[in-house]
Amino acid sequence: VSEGLTFVFGGFRTEVVFEPFDAAAMTGLPPMVTVLDENTAPLFADKAPRPIVLPAGESAKNWSSVESILAHCASFDLGRDGTIVGVGGGVVCDTAAFAASLYMRGCSVVLVPTTLLCMVDACLGGKTGIDFLGFKNLVGTFYPANRIFISAGILSSLSAREYLSGTAEAIKTGIIGDEEILTILSARRGDFLARDPAVVEEIVRRCLAVKGRIVEADPREAGERELLNLGHTFAHALESATAFRLWTHGEAVAWGIAKSLETGVRLGLTDPAFAGQVRELLAIYGYRLEAAIRYENLAPGFQKDKKRRSGRVRLVIPRGPRSLAVREVSEGDLATAIDGGARRAEKEPMHR
Ligand SMILES: NC(=O)c1ccc[n+]([C@@H]2O[C@H](COP(=O)([O-])OP(=O)(O)OC[C@H]3O[C@@H](n4cnc5c(N)ncnc54)[C@H](O)[C@@H]3O)[C@@H](O)[C@H]2O)c1
Repeated sequence: VSEGLTFVFGGFRTEVVFEPFDAAAMTGLPPMVTVLDENTAPLFADKAPRPIVLPAGESAKNWSSVESILAHCASFDLGRDGTIVGVGGGVVCDTAAFAASLYMRGCSVVLVPTTLLCMVDACLGGKTGIDFLGFKNLVGTFYPANRIFISAGILSSLSAREYLSGTAEAIKTGIIGDEEILTILSARRGDFLARDPAVVEEIVRRCLAVKGRIVEADPREAGERELLNLGHTFAHALESATAFRLWTHGEAVAWGIAKSLETGVRLGLTDPAFAGQVRELLAIYGYRLEAAIRYENLAPGFQKDKKRRSGRVRLVIPRGPRSLAVREVSEGDLATAIDGGARRAEKEPMHR
């Protein structure tokens, strides 16, 4: 068992422990209920006290899930000193933590991330929420977990595509705050893809250290936390233009990172050698770096981008390792990056 991490986000303390979740070992704690989904419930049969099982997937991030969790807590007379345990990917963790922030004005929350994306990113930092009126994460609270259990072994049943979706967030985090993440992912690609627990936990630990440091400094996203959106402006536009069906979130983020780098190089902000190294890393993991889609199709997605101010899109652009710029870019800049790529993708459909 490797040493844990501790963070304090706006007065809330979060402990990350690198061990499997074991409810029986959490003795002395008041009652808990466990929120799982259809895919994670079988992995925790008998190990999840007072389970409630949500449907799997993003569509479960809604009011009706929150209401069922709250009713489930009430049915067991869970008190304010009770704990809601979320066992699953980002969907379960965001929803369970949101419910915990509401139940009796806030009970304890423990998260057990079971996807790589949730381990490296979603479980930490206090953003909870659900989708509403067709908008992702429109309703939510800031409510960090008390404790997070990380155990790489649980990832063995995760699909290769979901695993790669999380890998893109790890690459993003490496660019933002820890080059060693990129070095390990490059040098130990085989072990990482084989889900070697030691390599996976090393990557997760490093990602959480970077994210935790940034969120500690800026829990409410008034400044530095914005850097965590690297690749996401492009990704959100692509995901909404393709109705969240053709690209996983991580695949869209990998493409978005490539587009941010390309834009940065063109604007003279990004070191071309660094951009080349990151592109190479994305390519060896098999991400599509070009999408056969035109700017005009993505434009509505950019309009909606939360980071857009005064009619322009704010883009996080890597300059080099651990050095980022946030720039307002014009529609022309976005169109150049996207349409140039689309022409390359159309000429060579398998372009990676
Ligand atoms: N709170 C945050 O800071 C934050 C950050 C990033 C993303 N998110 C949110 O996270 C969500 C995406 O999370 P996700 O990618 O984990 O998706 P997810 O929770 O939908 O999980 C993906 C799929 O994998 C299944 N699954 C989970 N663990 C498994 C396992 N061990 N074995 C087999 N199958 C398993 C799930 O049932 C689901 O079908 C989005 O809603 C996003 O908004 C939140």
